[in-house]
Amino acid sequence: MPCARGDAVYLDTLERALGDRLSVHAGDEGRRLDLGGVFAALPQDMMTLFCGPMRMLDAARRAWEASGRPLSDLRYETFGSSGLLPTEPFRVRLRGQGTELGTEFVIPRDGSMLDVLNEAGHEVMSDCRRGECGVCALDVVDVDGEIDHRDVFFSEHQKQESRKICACVSRARGTITVDTLHRSDAL
Ligand code: FES
Repeated sequence: MPCARGDAVYLDTLERALGDRLSVHAGDEGRRLDLGGVFAALPQDMMTLFCGPMRMLDAARRAWEASGRPLSDLRYETFGSSGLLPTEPFRVRLRGQGTELGTEFVIPRDGSMLDVLNEAGHEVMSDCRRGECGVCALDVVDVDGEIDHRDVFFSEHQKQESRKICACVSRARGTITVDTLHRSDAL
C-alpha cells in the first residue's frame, strides 16, 4: 500500500533539519520516485545508501543494475521483512547428516525458520537476521508449495532457482525440505 504523507512520522523533524533539500514522494500525492532517473543522474563512481521495504529495494536493485553500476556500490537496509505472499504458518522438513528422516517443524506466523530450528537444537548460523548477509542460508531440497524470498541477499535469478533460502526472514506456503547444518557429533 502506498505510504501517505500523513504516515511519515519524522516528516516535521526532517523538514526542520533539511528545509528545501528534502524531497518527499508520497503515495497519496501521486509522486513516485523515479529510481532510474535518480541513479542515472549520479556520478559513475557514487556509492548509494538505500533503506526501504522489500519491493522498493528490489526495484532499486534492478534500476541500479540497469544503470550499469556494480551492485557492491548499492548499500541497503530493509524495513522489516515484507514478502510477496501473506505471512502464514508453513512447514519445514529437514534432511541432512545426522538428521532424523521426517523431522518436521511448523513455523508460526510470528516466528522465523531460523528461530524455530535453533530452538530445536539445529545450529543454524546467522548474523544480520534481516536478510542482508546470507549467513543463515540453507540448501533447499524440495518445495511442495512456494517459497517467499524476503531477503535482499540473493539475486532475482537465485530467488527464481530457489536452491537456497535465508532462514532468518524468508517464508513459504506449504512445505519445504531443507538440508540442515546440524553437526552429527552434537547428536
Ligand atoms: S542472518 Fe543475515 S541473511 Fe539471515
